Amino acid sequence: MSIHSKKSVKNITVSTIRGMKSVEPITMITAYDALFAKLFDKSVEMILVGDSLNMSFSGKSDTLSANMELMLYHTRAVCRGASRPLIVFDMPFGSYTSEDLALKNATRIYRESDAQALKIEGGKERANIIKVLTQNSVAVMGHIGLMPQFVRSEGGYKIKGKDEKNIASLVEDAKAIEAAGAFAIVIEGVKCEAAKAITDAVSIPTIGIGAGLDVDGQVLVWSDMFGFFEDFKPKFVKQYLDGAKLIRDAVDVYVDEVKSKKFPSDEFTY
Ligand code: KIV
Repeated sequence: MSIHSKKSVKNITVSTIRGMKSVEPITMITAYDALFAKLFDKSVEMILVGDSLNMSFSGKSDTLSANMELMLYHTRAVCRGASRPLIVFDMPFGSYTSEDLALKNATRIYRESDAQALKIEGGKERANIIKVLTQNSVAVMGHIGLMPQFVRSEGGYKIKGKDEKNIASLVEDAKAIEAAGAFAIVIEGVKCEAAKAITDAVSIPTIGIGAGLDVDGQVLVWSDMFGFFEDFKPKFVKQYLDGAKLIRDAVDVYVDEVKSKKFPSDEFTY
């Protein structure tokens, strides 16, 4: 039975997500404000307040300048719009460079927003950070493969898992993240064989983005999937709506009606 048909399930928790591995594919979507969070509330299991908002919402060229204030502002808005999905706060670049800083910021996130979990980019080298957080009652989602916060240090967005050695290293990363207590892992921009090897190797759900079908769930950035972000379109993005065209066409009609004095007609006048 799908969790959508279980009348008793109201709000999705970390245990709901853990329990969905190998049972039912998990859906996650990003949201940055209450308006869209409300639209997604009844449908998806998780909402990620991704630092991708720095690009799609704030118009920056990468995610690196997002900070705690910005992420908290958007997370509070998302939490006001959605109550059913599990809401995940994406820790911004530089906010978890040490165990103490990560714990300080995680405490702040739980105190100042209703986010239920945090996401951290990085593999085995970040296992100590994840462990400190989970040991202090913070729910953590890992993120491996293509990690946007590494764009400058790696010289671009690089697809991972292209050879046996790298696949083995990604599997090690996932196992270290699981052992540190994470409840799920995002796998971004990896070859399908790598995503499958990782998913088979861990008992926590894997959520893919550009990682093929052999994962436990999928995540997409809302502005990509609904056709609002036009700067570039990665191969893995399926566009479910031509949002930009819909808006432009509607704006053109509005401008036309204002210029030609058709709007506001009697219907829209007191
Ligand atoms: O910031 C984001 O939206 C993300 C997703 C791409 C997983 O991290």
